[in-house]
Amino acid sequence: MLVWKPVFTCLPISKSTLKSDTAGARRLRVRVLGSAAGGGLPQWNCRCGVCRLARAEPQRVIPRTQSSIAVSVDGEHWALINCAPEVLSQLQRDPALQPGRDDRHTPIQSILVTNGDVDHIAGLLSLRERSPFRLYATPEIHGVLRDNPIFNVLAPDCVERRDVALDSRIELLPGLMATVFAVPGKTALYLEGDEVEIGAEGESTVGVEFELDGQRLYYIPGCATVTPRLADRLEGAAALLFDGTLWRDDEMLRAGVGQKTGQRMGHMSMAGPEGSMTALADSDIGRRVFIHINNTNPVLIEDSAERREAEDAGWEIAFDGMEITP
Ligand code: MLT
Ligand code: MN
Ligand code: ZN
Repeated sequence: MLVWKPVFTCLPISKSTLKSDTAGARRLRVRVLGSAAGGGLPQWNCRCGVCRLARAEPQRVIPRTQSSIAVSVDGEHWALINCAPEVLSQLQRDPALQPGRDDRHTPIQSILVTNGDVDHIAGLLSLRERSPFRLYATPEIHGVLRDNPIFNVLAPDCVERRDVALDSRIELLPGLMATVFAVPGKTALYLEGDEVEIGAEGESTVGVEFELDGQRLYYIPGCATVTPRLADRLEGAAALLFDGTLWRDDEMLRAGVGQKTGQRMGHMSMAGPEGSMTALADSDIGRRVFIHINNTNPVLIEDSAERREAEDAGWEIAFDGMEITP
């Protein structure tokens, strides 16, 4: 690891106007950096049917890293939404996210995290080499980061931590407005006490709305239920990236790899009468993409009946490297 010597201060965040900021070039671009849920695919200690296929037949089950996307309007300045443990290899795969000029540079100007889960924050520890960026989170999630002093490796004179209030619009990147909003969820696993409130709506689990020229795109990697309020908000969206953790609620128990249901983890399932495909079936949404997919989920198998069922219902299954330009 090369740590930039402290005698150098970090470079200021580029305030330059967008070079390719012409009407035609300005559009929402999303790259899926990681499409798997916590644990990734295959998960290091898992031998479930899907993980086994991911090792033995990677063309039938494409391996995936943990949940994160990159967003841009010009292809030059980028924001990461969530920061997975695999962030370094994710950035290595994508030239647009690598230094484009100068000896030290990054196109990443902002990082926003949607909850305090390990799969969404651990990668921050790998971005400690004194490049400036803004770190956005709700006050509660910033509190979690503050309570874990290891995150102080992000030097405060380089990484500016900014609070985002629920339902307030921020300029995440020059020209890209984002709003975070509460979705039903739960506190991070490592913060669970004796009693866990599932489906609480507050600052601990948020979705993100991106808006450009009237077009809206949503990223909601964790959600316990689609409330009427959430369904209303999503109406008319150009694209939705939504919690695809489990196909069915008791999937991990059936696979013999865990004791928890999806509901207990704060994740609604895709299938069944209580599932997200049913909940959003009548909504007016352009592209529908499942993301944050757990390694037990059979939709990960390219030729599975569940994959076909999801696709027939109009859903795409995210993979690492997927580009979404609604
Ligand atoms: C989740 O999405 O439920 C968490 O990422 C679980 C975990 O911490 O592994
Ligand atoms: Mn997760
Ligand atoms: Zn597995």
